[in-house]
Amino acid sequence: MSSDTGPSGPSPALSQGAAGFLDQTLRPRAWDEYIGQESIKRNLTILIGAAKEREHPPEHLLFYGPPGLGKTTLAHLIAIELGVSMKATSGPAIEKVGDLAALLTNLSPGDILFIDEIHRLSKAIEEVLYPAMEQGSLDIIIGKGPSARTVQLPLPPFTLIAATTQLANVSAPLRSRFSGGVFHLDFYSDEELSRILSRSASILGIEAKKDAVEEIARRSRATPRTANYLLKRARDVAQLKRAALTLPIVEEALAMLEVDELGLTPADRRILGALIERFGGGPVGVGAIAAALGEEQSAISDVHEPYLLQRGLLERTPRGRTATAAAYEHLGKKPPSTGTLL
Ligand code: ADE
Repeated sequence: MSSDTGPSGPSPALSQGAAGFLDQTLRPRAWDEYIGQESIKRNLTILIGAAKEREHPPEHLLFYGPPGLGKTTLAHLIAIELGVSMKATSGPAIEKVGDLAALLTNLSPGDILFIDEIHRLSKAIEEVLYPAMEQGSLDIIIGKGPSARTVQLPLPPFTLIAATTQLANVSAPLRSRFSGGVFHLDFYSDEELSRILSRSASILGIEAKKDAVEEIARRSRATPRTANYLLKRARDVAQLKRAALTLPIVEEALAMLEVDELGLTPADRRILGALIERFGGGPVGVGAIAAALGEEQSAISDVHEPYLLQRGLLERTPRGRTATAAAYEHLGKKPPSTGTLL
């Protein structure tokens, strides 16, 4: 969403610059610093432990779930745990077969190749990835027409770790090649977010009161990236007021950012508002909501919807999205007295 990417995650520009630097500082560097996602951690610890004992890279892994839940962080942790380097790229950045070939041939034995947004890889590049994942070879076609031939280039052993917000858009053949496992990242509990925030506050040298941290956690859309973003914005307010990070300071910062009691951003509320006011509460397709708001469909379905669903404000039905009674109540609208309202 254009105007208020902030609270649901730093804007792309910010995450490359100063915020990116801070994100690096806050990123866990060991398993015991990574809070939550307990089942994934248990599975990965075994997978990595066994691979290390066999002195062979772990099999390929796929992480999926909404943005900001720590998919990239997990990949970094695995690299640290294995003592290897990680080369990171993303689906849209790999435009030509040659881009992928360059990445793969430049890996050192045992390295991790991390591909974010893997659902955006083109079909032609997927085809090159299959033999690389399965047999560790790069199959390149040289020449055209009847004289064309395939050359197989052996690759160093490597682990592909991929991430996506849209598992449904990862093709079945590609999905099946993640033989190490396909893992779903869940939203975080308030308690887990409070622990993440306390750790972040201590790294950033912020003296934060317990109730202030808990309030940020409660309004962070169950997402660590948002929690850390809100912590930094509240810290800015505290700093300029020469005050400690207290509950009133947090409330002031959240009010300024227009993050409401449920942690919804203006963009979240616009989606619910459009659903209720322009489409009678639904059911309506996500494409229609996106068109009505002039937004990208993927921003709505990847970034906003998962949390609205989790909070019970939105329902997905075979005929489209519907607003729940809780959504009407939250926006202070009168729900229709009859009909299909959930
Ligand atoms: N930062 C982002 N995700 C985190 C997590 N799960 N634990 C600790 N810090 C994090």
